[in-house]
Amino acid sequence: MSQAPVALVTGGAIRVGRAICLALAAAGYRVWLHYHHSAEAAAEVLRAIGGAGLGPLRLDLADEAARAELVRTVLDPDGPAGGRLDLLVNNAAGFERGSFTGRSDADLRRVLELNLVAPISLARGLAPGLAAVQGSVVNLLDVAAYQPWRGYLDHCTAKAGLAMATRALAVELAPAVRVNGVAPGTVAWPEADERYAEGSPTRAAILRAIPLGRIGEPDDIAQAVLFLARSGFISGHTIAVDGGRLAAGGLG
Ligand SMILES: NC(=O)c1ccc[n+]([C@@H]2O[C@H](COP(=O)([O-])OP(=O)(O)OC[C@H]3O[C@@H](n4cnc5c(N)ncnc54)[C@H](OP(=O)(O)O)[C@@H]3O)[C@@H](O)[C@H]2O)c1
Repeated sequence: MSQAPVALVTGGAIRVGRAICLALAAAGYRVWLHYHHSAEAAAEVLRAIGGAGLGPLRLDLADEAARAELVRTVLDPDGPAGGRLDLLVNNAAGFERGSFTGRSDADLRRVLELNLVAPISLARGLAPGLAAVQGSVVNLLDVAAYQPWRGYLDHCTAKAGLAMATRALAVELAPAVRVNGVAPGTVAWPEADERYAEGSPTRAAILRAIPLGRIGEPDDIAQAVLFLARSGFISGHTIAVDGGRLAAGGLG
């Protein structure tokens, strides 16, 4: 059985999750790749990381039973990684927008289930495996955890909850498991929303709010995840990787 450390990356097929999978594989991790709809992209990432890849694991993280099945698969002592797990990266999330009065309680519950309940649920389920190797969890937050954005109440609230959960889990799971967060500013423009199209006023406003004057790259996030995974005395903290946006208090 290989002694290489093992990571699970949720939403690992595209964009930020993809960059995290590639960076972890390059750093010597074997990587369980989870995806939901992006099957072709997941296959491409697995081809790119070759023998480091495990899975892929396809499931809807909003489905509690499916999450339990994922936990069983990853921690299965007869599985491809022998049940070993050193790092959980809770990357998958939704990014829903809508006017406060136009949205419903059901909308709020859906966002909370995916962006807040699922990461906590995976941390709880996988904790025994992580504890066995003094592993860690890295949660992907958002600068929106710290700044309310009009039209994104559900998202901001879920990410703010995950910011507290990161600290609370660091206490709950100590001393065996460290728990930290990375809060990205913009590192990849939303693709499905034309308000963020090239040359749009929204893009210009966001760029004005970033002191470094540009958005980041998905690999900037991946390198912060790797740093936290390797830092044995950091727990309960979140690194903002945002080009200075929070420091400047800029909403865009
Ligand atoms: N991009 C940025 O600039 C930025 C800024 C701030 C924070 N963040 C945070 O960084 C993380 C990654 O951002 P991103 O922009 O790469 O995200 P993204 O492009 O919106 O991708 C979302 C990921 O989540 C997965 N996902 C969505 N719904 C799911 C469900 N119900 N069940 C399972 N998986 C589901 C998707 O999987 P499939 O594609 O396979 O369906 C996809 O991999 C997120 O936590 C996000 O909030 C990103």
